[in-house]
Amino acid sequence: MIYLDNSATTNPKPQSVIHACDRALRMSANPGRSGHTLSTAAAGRVYHARCTAADFFGAKDETRVIFTPNCTFSLNTAIKGLLKNGDHVVISDLEHNAVIRPLEKLSSSGITYTKAAVAVGDDDQTVDHFRQCINQHTRMIVCTHASNVFGIRLPVERLCSLAHTYGLLFVLDCAQSAGILPVRMEDGYDVVCAAPHKGLYAPMGTGLMILSEAISPDTLTEGGTGSHSLLLQQPEELPERYESGTLNYPGIAGLDEGIRFVNGKGISRISAHEFRLITALYRNLEKNPKIQLYTPCPEPPYFVPVLSFNVSGRHSEETAEWLKKNGIAVRAGLHCAPSAHEAFGTLETGTVRISPSAFTTQQDIRQTVRVLSAL
Ligand code: ALA
Repeated sequence: MIYLDNSATTNPKPQSVIHACDRALRMSANPGRSGHTLSTAAAGRVYHARCTAADFFGAKDETRVIFTPNCTFSLNTAIKGLLKNGDHVVISDLEHNAVIRPLEKLSSSGITYTKAAVAVGDDDQTVDHFRQCINQHTRMIVCTHASNVFGIRLPVERLCSLAHTYGLLFVLDCAQSAGILPVRMEDGYDVVCAAPHKGLYAPMGTGLMILSEAISPDTLTEGGTGSHSLLLQQPEELPERYESGTLNYPGIAGLDEGIRFVNGKGISRISAHEFRLITALYRNLEKNPKIQLYTPCPEPPYFVPVLSFNVSGRHSEETAEWLKKNGIAVRAGLHCAPSAHEAFGTLETGTVRISPSAFTTQQDIRQTVRVLSAL
């Protein structure tokens, strides 16, 4: 099977990730709970993963790297834990439901939001659009680093500066970019939310929330932390404050190795490889009169290597089904990001999305082009 659905989750995972998960399952013990050898070894492994992630994202204090079940949980914590009744938020028009649904839920608490249009290939205009959406009640900008549907990259470093100029918080959703683009806390982000099971080659069920020095969202969940058990209230210490309940130890062990895999290859080499593949795909598809493309060729600096398209007269699911019959795995439909489809006029048909990984080959792309030309 040719797997081109790496924006949903990367496949295959590196052998080192698989081995780390396997070992953690064989040596199962609850990290940070008991004092026996297996438990302390598990706690040591979790600490190691925390330090690996801190280093990767440039977080100076590893206790501010929080393990969560997924990027959605991280975004929910940041959004719900930092906003108050009456606050206003600016987001982009390309956001995933992981940003939009928590904000919709908060609308019953008097929290409002405005969507700023992303101008493809024109960062000045994008920043201006965000600026125009700021009002006297705005407290936060939260946006994706890159669209999970169209691969469009947002100028998040500039948007973060814009937020801080107006005294606002900036929350970054790097679900689609970590492992492809540098994401560094020294760029000033208040909260970074990541989906390590994508570009960091970690297992699913792992998420990261990285908090800058001054940021302390309210908790989304409370419970056992393995510390201060007599306290009825949630402990203040990090990272426990945000890590109630048993951690996904096998997943975290895999996450540690996933980041080491990315570091070993280097994100610039991985992204150059994926851009070569997606450019080759785009240049072939644009020659096919039946193919509808929605963006310019995904190239740096305005894109990540993700491509959405349709075959004229066919629903995206129909095309995905054809690809499936021919041994090619892609994701079609709305990709949990209806707002992005609304912006591109593809709400009705959705799009077929192709997203490569470090393991995808030119042969995979050539075969995909062949299969599509036979449709
Ligand atoms: N958010 C993931 C995707 O884009 C699952 O497919």
